[in-house]
Amino acid sequence: MKILGIETSCDETAAAIVEDGTKIISNVIATSSEMHIKTGGVIPENAARQQIKSIIPVINEALGKEKIDAIAVTVGPGLIGSLLVGVETAKTLSKIWDKPIIPVNHLVAHIYANWIGNTPKFPALALVVSGGHTDLVLMKGHGKIEWIGGTRDDAAGEAFDKCARLLGLPYPGGPSISKEAELFRAKNPKQKLDMFPRPMIDDESFDLSFSGLKTAVLRGVEGKKINIGEISANIEEAIVDSLVYKSIRAIKKFKPSSFLLAGGVAANLRLREKFKDETTSGDPQAELHVPEAKLCTDNAVYIASFAHFNYKPIDWKKITANPELTITA
Ligand code: KG4
Ligand code: ZN
Repeated sequence: MKILGIETSCDETAAAIVEDGTKIISNVIATSSEMHIKTGGVIPENAARQQIKSIIPVINEALGKEKIDAIAVTVGPGLIGSLLVGVETAKTLSKIWDKPIIPVNHLVAHIYANWIGNTPKFPALALVVSGGHTDLVLMKGHGKIEWIGGTRDDAAGEAFDKCARLLGLPYPGGPSISKEAELFRAKNPKQKLDMFPRPMIDDESFDLSFSGLKTAVLRGVEGKKINIGEISANIEEAIVDSLVYKSIRAIKKFKPSSFLLAGGVAANLRLREKFKDETTSGDPQAELHVPEAKLCTDNAVYIASFAHFNYKPIDWKKITANPELTITA
């Protein structure tokens, strides 16, 4: 079965065709990120206007001459103006082409980047780290998701983005901080990176907190001559340590067969490297799955893959955008 995925939750307009949930036939992404560099972040109205300009050309390119069996579309969470562009386009196509349509939760769908060319074993523990969300979930099967922890305040990606803005680094903050941090670590491989706190690390829960990091960074740099590389490496290390530490504790407790990394922040090299070290060094045992970096950040491939494994078409008239959707909604 070939599914056309459509994703417009934020500043990416994406369409993709995926066969049987695992094989990419096409993958097209237009981004308005250049525009948001100038404003230092996404202005929803601007993002929505760009979505309208890009949606038809992007879908056309993804379709090529392919015949599709169904349409999958992100219904939330995300920016309402952006979401509506994808949702209303998908509903129109479903009606005029007479194809089934599947509404997709963007957060759960991120995890399905791990099914591309791959079959992770259940039960699986997944860490979803994106710009607006940070959640640890246990998956006993497709559609059987239990939330076990997550951030109490800012998301991991949000922490990267806010700290980058403080340092005057360009949007999106994650890749900017990561680039500076890589360069610093290469030149200073033995330097300790413990400038900033890892809140809640000793807490019994699987919850995380990142809002204090921004304040700590502000205090650390205020009125001082700073080395951007060193601060970036310390920010990255604090975020990565918290994510890895809590995930490893969850792996020890729940003993899943696989551990799945997902979301835009999963493209982070340091995070990928630390998870690899931790999960291959004996205890705890869980097969680590990390999607290709370009499938971690927003795209429509995982939207189509999710819809294959959670195939629940509904009447197009009943599909609505829901910006507040949570991972277990
Ligand atoms: O999943 P995503 O593409 O969009 C949302 O659904 O939010 O995630 C975007 C987030 C942004 O906060 C961005 O700074 C972060 O992912 N990000 C990264 C990297 N690439 C993207 N964070 C750290 N390192 C990266 N390489
Ligand atoms: Zn996302």
